[in-house]
Amino acid sequence: MKLVDSHNRRIDYLRISITDHCNLNCLYCAPLRGRTRLAHEDILTYEEIQKVVEAAVSSGISKIRITGGEPLVRKDMVDLCRELSRVRGLQDISVTTNGVMLSELAGPLFEAGVKRVNVSLDTFQPERFKKIAGHDLLPRVLAGIKKAEEVGMHPIKINTVVMRGVNEDEVRDLARLTLRKPYHVRFIEVMPTKGCALGVPASLFVAVDEIIKMVKRVGLLSIEKVAHSFGPARLCSLPGALGIVGFIAPLSWHFCDSCNRLRLTADGQLRTCLFSEQEIDIRGPLREGASREELGDIFKMAVNLKPAGHQLKKSDVRIPKNLGRTMQAIGG
Ligand code: 5AD
Repeated sequence: MKLVDSHNRRIDYLRISITDHCNLNCLYCAPLRGRTRLAHEDILTYEEIQKVVEAAVSSGISKIRITGGEPLVRKDMVDLCRELSRVRGLQDISVTTNGVMLSELAGPLFEAGVKRVNVSLDTFQPERFKKIAGHDLLPRVLAGIKKAEEVGMHPIKINTVVMRGVNEDEVRDLARLTLRKPYHVRFIEVMPTKGCALGVPASLFVAVDEIIKMVKRVGLLSIEKVAHSFGPARLCSLPGALGIVGFIAPLSWHFCDSCNRLRLTADGQLRTCLFSEQEIDIRGPLREGASREELGDIFKMAVNLKPAGHQLKKSDVRIPKNLGRTMQAIGG
């Protein structure tokens, strides 16, 4: 079974936020003013998530990613991953994490079927980490990445949001990490998201062309010869590197044409685009006892409603978009 949207894109990837709670407060993600947490009863139970995933997979989804908030803070999330990884027809399950709890959970996650992770890492400097993330936990994140590698996770993808005057001077050091480690280090343009502490003013935005120039100073990086490209990242590598450098530029390069995804919020709403307010309720039907086929029909409907693309331009980085949920509640 295939899910193809009205713009002829194949949709085979579902990002699942399992909690809106996070143990960090990153500038570009967490809300500026007090968090409004989802009520416990609004959050999908693991049994409900399992049902949604079974319906999704039988409708054409083959890859899922567990996100948050911070997914590792939800109790027994490893058990959820184990159950989900057994869903017949599912080809890939991965997790996006801030890494704080990864040294404890990488082993259990790997055993449960999660063979790869994406970890957010914006700096190698402890003081700076504290400034960006609100907590002095860089050593734990670094230990988490190390552990993920030790238990055999591959590839380990590092997500770095590049911010002018905050961490732009570390782009080269982060890129150099790929010289000694088989990681994918992906530099991400900061996106305007609702009411985050940063507000994402234009002064913080570093366009991808400039990020590429910074990386090129490390070595003879040939972005023109992008080795391969999948998902939103354009990939290339430094000479002799074990890993890969990637660039994700939602504002400079629209990659909407190749968008392959839907998102499920922790409270059971399907979102058709990161930058769209549109949500399709799946929790209601689920709790009213909808069958797998009926849930699958909701997926088809969501896929049909996917917009052709977002309208954001580089200049929009000035205006924090008044999206109905913060990034933290959507899961990136
Ligand atoms: N701009 C760019 N990237 C962001 N992320 C979260 N918020 C933003 C933002 N405002 C990224 C983080 C995280 C991933 C899930 O989303 O790098 O790793």
